[in-house]
Amino acid sequence: MCAEQSVRLVVAITGASGVIYGKRLLEMLKQKKMETHLIVSNAAEKVIQQELGVNRKDIERLATCAYGPDDLAAPLMSGSFQTDGMIIIPCSMKTLAGITHGFADNLILRAADVTMKEKRRLVVVPRETPLSTVHIRNMLAASELGVSIVPAMPAFYHKPEKIGDMVDFIVGRVLDCFKIDHNLFKRYSGMKTRSQTPA
Ligand SMILES: Cc1cc2nc3c(=O)[nH]c(=O)nc-3n(C[C@H](O)[C@H](O)[C@H](O)COP(=O)(O)O)c2cc1C
Repeated sequence: MCAEQSVRLVVAITGASGVIYGKRLLEMLKQKKMETHLIVSNAAEKVIQQELGVNRKDIERLATCAYGPDDLAAPLMSGSFQTDGMIIIPCSMKTLAGITHGFADNLILRAADVTMKEKRRLVVVPRETPLSTVHIRNMLAASELGVSIVPAMPAFYHKPEKIGDMVDFIVGRVLDCFKIDHNLFKRYSGMKTRSQTPA
């Protein structure tokens, strides 16, 4: 039984490169004492081993509750299980395609489907390069369906020095989508122009 907190979010990690984004998001949500329901896809399990050198369980420990992608009896299958939204981070092109076509054959896709039908916030962090026309079409379709697309595209204006700074930028922008307060990067506050320079 999962403890109930005031904010309840579904987090899914799929098999795109950049699973570190999902791990960092879970760390932040745990630090903020938010309730997280995590689903790690089978492909993500392999990428977690490859990129982070840890296993699925090490990531699942960061969440309040964790489910297998084939657990089609999980509470997240139903819209009556109330959540404040869902984040798919990183989001593979396969999962993105499933979202835009209502192809809910695993728990991640069903939970995304539920999030959309219940008009809750769905944020995806797609990662692929280069992008095919199919990928771009699916991103447009997702955006038209009300999904927030936060591509794994770090900025440089906050002058990142380490990989962690670049990861924090993306995770911070995801938290911004839910208006969750954070201090993960220095926000852009404009450039000094001559008109702003005191005489
Ligand atoms: C090391 C590794 C890196 C991958 N990186 C990406 C990626 O960046 N983007 C992507 O769409 N798929 C990537 N894939 C392929 C996906 O894992 C694959 O399409 C898988 O079926 C996605 O399934 P899922 O969405 O259920 O996790 C990668 C696979 C591996 C093994």
